[in-house]
Amino acid sequence: MNASASDRPFPENRLDEARLDETRLNETRLSEDRLGMRARIYGSEKAVLVAVRTPDGRVNESLRELAALATTAGIPSLLEVVQNRTRPDPRYFIGKGKVAEVKAAAHELHADVVIFDDELSPAQARNLEEKMKTKVIDRAQLIMDIFAQRAATKEARLQVELAQLRYLLPRLRGWGSALTRLGGGIGTRGPGETQLELDRKKINRRIHTLERRLKKARSERALRSHKRRSGPFPLIALIGYTNSGKSTLLNRLCAADVLVEDNLFATLTTTIRRGETARGQLALFADTVGFIRNLPHHLIPAFAATLETVRDADLLLHVIDSSRPSCSDDYQSVITTLDHEVFTSDEPRPPVIDVLNKIDLIPADEIKTEAFHKPVLISARKGTNMDGLLARVRSILSQGKRAVSLILPYNMMQEVHSLSRREKLRVCGYTKEGVEVEATLPEEDLMRLLRQGGRISPSDSVPQKQV
Ligand code: GTP
Repeated sequence: MNASASDRPFPENRLDEARLDETRLNETRLSEDRLGMRARIYGSEKAVLVAVRTPDGRVNESLRELAALATTAGIPSLLEVVQNRTRPDPRYFIGKGKVAEVKAAAHELHADVVIFDDELSPAQARNLEEKMKTKVIDRAQLIMDIFAQRAATKEARLQVELAQLRYLLPRLRGWGSALTRLGGGIGTRGPGETQLELDRKKINRRIHTLERRLKKARSERALRSHKRRSGPFPLIALIGYTNSGKSTLLNRLCAADVLVEDNLFATLTTTIRRGETARGQLALFADTVGFIRNLPHHLIPAFAATLETVRDADLLLHVIDSSRPSCSDDYQSVITTLDHEVFTSDEPRPPVIDVLNKIDLIPADEIKTEAFHKPVLISARKGTNMDGLLARVRSILSQGKRAVSLILPYNMMQEVHSLSRREKLRVCGYTKEGVEVEATLPEEDLMRLLRQGGRISPSDSVPQKQV
């Protein structure tokens, strides 16, 4: 007699998908390992950093940022090498002579990895590795590695892995010589080539799985977001260049215990906390992942996914580190990313307040404010001018609302209570007909109250005034 499906101890159709996926993941990792000196970075490594200064380039700031990125990934930088060139060399990115120089320095200093400040083509990466006999990675791979180390949510992890595999795929051929060392014949259709094909197939399969899972994760998030947006409190999102002080400000505003680090990308997932914009007026504050110039193309979807809260927000606080010489460039790059990656052109956007942070680090007369729109100057670390910032927040959140006097029947007290927690609302007296309140409300809340039996108070001389 045939056993029914439920009798079978491990029916095939109920094989745990997660285990299957784990197996596939291990296969992918295996194939990556076979690729030898690949992109992964390991804790104990030390690096030499290399950049090319083209006539229009600003290398110093960019190299400093690369060194900060390396530190964030846990890799100390031993040396920075800059070459002046009119344009990068197509074969080696830097000149052949410079390759030999970097190779000698890397060997002498016992560096494990050479990190280039720009994106290398697959051929350049291969040529450089073969010449230098050292692992070579570029800025994009470094950032992806940091994202991989820090991605905390399921969706962020899926996004980062997808970005890494998409980056790896066209480079598979590029790691051919590493394969050869493990048995494949170079330039022949021997085992190396077959293996390469298998690797490619496995990676493609994994990419499809990741895409499918991401779609599901995204729709789940959209649902969560929708639920949250129908909640009662305004949502204020903190955005800004990485390390500008967003988490520190969130801690200030919400007395929240959010990770604050002097590293780039300390925040990779959005944290939402409850705070007050005035005594008793609650709002949600969201910390978001820091922006960065030249974000690797492959990572933009992963990055944009973490910025869903920005689209949902009622107000954005754009936090700027006023102590950085490049702060107006940082500011512009955040705006460009918002314009191109986060919002579509016809999407309504939340209003933005420019918040110039870290003013404790520079003398007052050296703070440059011209590049920003009516900035509010603060020090999140010292708590300077938090009142000024909150006053501006309140004034923007109340725009488009109406200030009215209302009489609300006593059976609406529950409504009065819940409205008072998020809107400006003051009880002025008690009449025969109900409670008299002065409130500043969005049109839809006002209409709802009127439908439920409330009415505009006869004492309201300017019932239609806009705030
Ligand atoms: P990411 O999550 O990486 O984008 O960083 P972030 O923008 O959240 O910055 P975070 O709050 O982690 O602060 C970065 C560093 O700047 C930390 O060392 C903070 O202590 C420091 N910092 C933040 N605000 C101020 C400030 O007002 N003054 C000074 N002097 N330092 C500040």
